[in-house]
Amino acid sequence: MNRIVVDAARGGPRIDRNVYGHFAEHLGRCIEEGVWVGEGSPIPNTRGIRDDVVAALRRIRVPALRWPGGCFADEYHWRDGVGTREKRPAMVNTHWGGVAEINAFGTHEFLDFCAQAGAAPYICGNVGSGTVRELQEWVEYITHDGPSTMAGLRRANGQEEPWKLPYVGVGNESWGCGGHMRPEYYADLYRRYATYVRDFSGNRVFKIACGADRDDYAWTDALMREAGRYMDGLSLHYYTVPGPDWGHKGSATAFDEGEWFAALRACLFMDELIAKHGAIMDHHDPARRVALVVDEWGAWYDVEPGTNPGFLYQQNTLRDALVAGLTLNIFNRHAGRVRMANLAQTVNVLQALILTDGPAMVTTPTYHVFDLYKAHQGALALRCDVEAEPYTLGKESIPGVNASASRDDAGRLSVTLCNTDPHEAADVSCTVRGLSLSHVEGTALTADAMNAHNTFEQPDKVTLAAFDGARVTPDGLDIALPPRSVVLLSAT
Ligand code: AHR
Repeated sequence: MNRIVVDAARGGPRIDRNVYGHFAEHLGRCIEEGVWVGEGSPIPNTRGIRDDVVAALRRIRVPALRWPGGCFADEYHWRDGVGTREKRPAMVNTHWGGVAEINAFGTHEFLDFCAQAGAAPYICGNVGSGTVRELQEWVEYITHDGPSTMAGLRRANGQEEPWKLPYVGVGNESWGCGGHMRPEYYADLYRRYATYVRDFSGNRVFKIACGADRDDYAWTDALMREAGRYMDGLSLHYYTVPGPDWGHKGSATAFDEGEWFAALRACLFMDELIAKHGAIMDHHDPARRVALVVDEWGAWYDVEPGTNPGFLYQQNTLRDALVAGLTLNIFNRHAGRVRMANLAQTVNVLQALILTDGPAMVTTPTYHVFDLYKAHQGALALRCDVEAEPYTLGKESIPGVNASASRDDAGRLSVTLCNTDPHEAADVSCTVRGLSLSHVEGTALTADAMNAHNTFEQPDKVTLAAFDGARVTPDGLDIALPPRSVVLLSAT
């Protein structure tokens, strides 16, 4: 028997909506085709942006969108992407396939996309190959209300009113594709760039410094020590790779139970990463003023056979739904420090929410997890102790059950649970303290196979269904979790 104790009497920190954020880079078919089709396209669009994709994002209440990269951000020059579209210069997208980037989708189009989707914009500035002045002027261009050269340029380009720009990242992976810098050097650069990211016209920018690659704790320590007081957030990047190395990441769809297990075990490492990076941040910032922003996460497999290796296109199965469910539970449980996260990436790239093929669009199992978990957005995180039976494969084990819980302002309890075992159902006894329940309803995501996925021919192979495996008890809830499942319980 698995046991969970939820303490609903004492609310923890609020789960920031932005933990359910996303990331869209100029990479492969994410922006081009996935978001941007142009006004002249026969695919239904509003000012060139796909209507079906916007509607899908609105449905899951996407809170924030990070753009234009990723590695691309550190070679992006924003002035190339404003003004008359036909006159915008083309560049080579050196990181992602060496294809031409024609800059049809630039600042105005991104901010329009965010407005249509209802998301807060999070731009990542170019530190690797850009200048302080370039970043300073980009923020002024977007947000300044009064007379200024940049505000005048924005108006001349058709946008009278300034936009709000709540989030700015200062470089991306500055330890790698963003310049191969040492932490002390980047910390100084961060201080310099961030100084000139100004708050204009009532806009307040939340400044996010480039944080560590997975378990590079020395990077976090140096950044917090040297630049912590100048930042609002510090990022962390961690990808789930089931294969033995980056050259052999494994197939997104053709995998056995060993690779299922390896992926889930790898994604659970996020918990240790947040705990250890968080402890270093606590040392420098005991009041937890600086947010940990996990602005790239998700599963990364070998590309689909026959596709451009630089486009990072991969299918998305029930295994990815488990990766998402487990990771989001981890974020909820660390709500005091993790206040934004951005899944990589929104459309057609890596662990995508959405896949497109010409006019066709399909939502992935990962999308459905975000649909389920939106119940947690803005709710109070509740302490949720899980005593799980192991799911064992060979000599190795991971917890069979993983969960998180929250209570929204209307008093509704949401518990999200994952059963990592692909074969066995899991009985769970859940004690709920401080709340007397009378009603529970559930929704589940599961399928007949570990690698079940949605295709353009069968778009609903993995989809949400009503779940009747939970009942109210005098102490809380009894739950029979199906094998290989992600479940949301809503109780009052
Ligand atoms: O998401 C794909 C790439 O992964 C990003 O461009 C980069 O930041 C990371 O290495």
